[in-house]
Amino acid sequence: MLSLSNKRILLGITGGIAAYKCAELTRLFIKAGAEVRVVMTQSATEFITPLTLQALSGNRVHLDLLDPEAEAAMGHIELARWADLVLVAPATANSIARIAHGEADDILTTLVLATPAAIAIAPAMNQGMWSDAQTQANITALAARGYTLIGPGSGEQACGDVGLGRLSEPEEIVTACAALFDTGALAGRHVVITGGPTREALDPVRYISNHSSGKMAYALAAEAAAAGARVTLISGPVTLATPERVTRVDVISAQDMLAATLEVVGNSDVFIGVAAVADYRPAQIAEQKIKKAGEAITLSLVKNPDIIAEVASLTQRPTLVVGFAAETENVVANGQGKLAAKKLDLLFANQATDTFNSDSVAITAVDAAGVTELAAGNKHLVARKMLHLIAERLTR
Ligand code: C5P
Repeated sequence: MLSLSNKRILLGITGGIAAYKCAELTRLFIKAGAEVRVVMTQSATEFITPLTLQALSGNRVHLDLLDPEAEAAMGHIELARWADLVLVAPATANSIARIAHGEADDILTTLVLATPAAIAIAPAMNQGMWSDAQTQANITALAARGYTLIGPGSGEQACGDVGLGRLSEPEEIVTACAALFDTGALAGRHVVITGGPTREALDPVRYISNHSSGKMAYALAAEAAAAGARVTLISGPVTLATPERVTRVDVISAQDMLAATLEVVGNSDVFIGVAAVADYRPAQIAEQKIKKAGEAITLSLVKNPDIIAEVASLTQRPTLVVGFAAETENVVANGQGKLAAKKLDLLFANQATDTFNSDSVAITAVDAAGVTELAAGNKHLVARKMLHLIAERLTR
């Protein structure tokens, strides 16, 4: 599958007629799941406007090394670190020469020197300039430094010549860039995860909740993103930082969590219900703080929606619906019961008392085919094993 899911591409445009193809190139990158930021040399702006690239990439275009405003938003060193790939396209003979000689007198050449990311060059120039010995020496030097060369293609040129020097077609460039990444077992998949506890309000200052820390859901979200998935994490109130490249939707109650889930889950590939959803909520939320009254009071509770069961019954159901069962006894038997009752494809069962707020976990995977013990360990390590089982079932 062609995917650049979650990849961060810094597109450096230099001043050649083929710069106009960067509009299509940016569009295709975004369609393939990448995030794109654009850097342009001064002469590139003569061929295509920064506004076009800003609109297509959804990010401000960087033009100047010493622009205080752009530096305040994302400084050039930060930008260099942000990228997974720096692609110079079209790369003119002049820009190739300057990069080959390590110059750093504008934002693009500076980024190329500063970045720890992979660098790809897609040349575009007149065929005579391409075959010139100096250009060829520069290209050889860049290849020796590990840069990837994409194209150039052969054919009719803007100047009327015919030969090597055309910018590769945008589709070819996207394919070549995707090939540079080991895109991971979940590349291009949309994974929706619920995590953390829910809080069910009693009055403006009190609620019913549980001890879920959200650590398991956050570890799964981080590891799914690392495996190339687009991840939406619907999170109850927790104190954890959002993992990189994960879209987080914050919710409070079970009803909020259900609404947020139904908004995004249609046509997703995998739904993982990790949240410790409160089974019941107060029948009424008092408008004012409930006053102390006597030795005992009675709370009236009503059942909350079962989010995962609703997801599993949708007509546009995710390919895989994966549940969790935190049990205090008969872990496997109860897990098997839940798998059937909620129409789940896979269930991860664990001993409830061991896991809340802990960094490690022991999991038993239960599905129609049987039971698999996942060796205990750190939640991130176990999350990777779980995602491995999920990826296997997606490709069956
Ligand atoms: O029935 P039990 O709460 O043990 O089931 C646990 C599984 O169901 C978990 O995957 C949990 O996220 C999900 N669940 C849910 N909505 C509820 C209760 C549980 O999605 N109201």
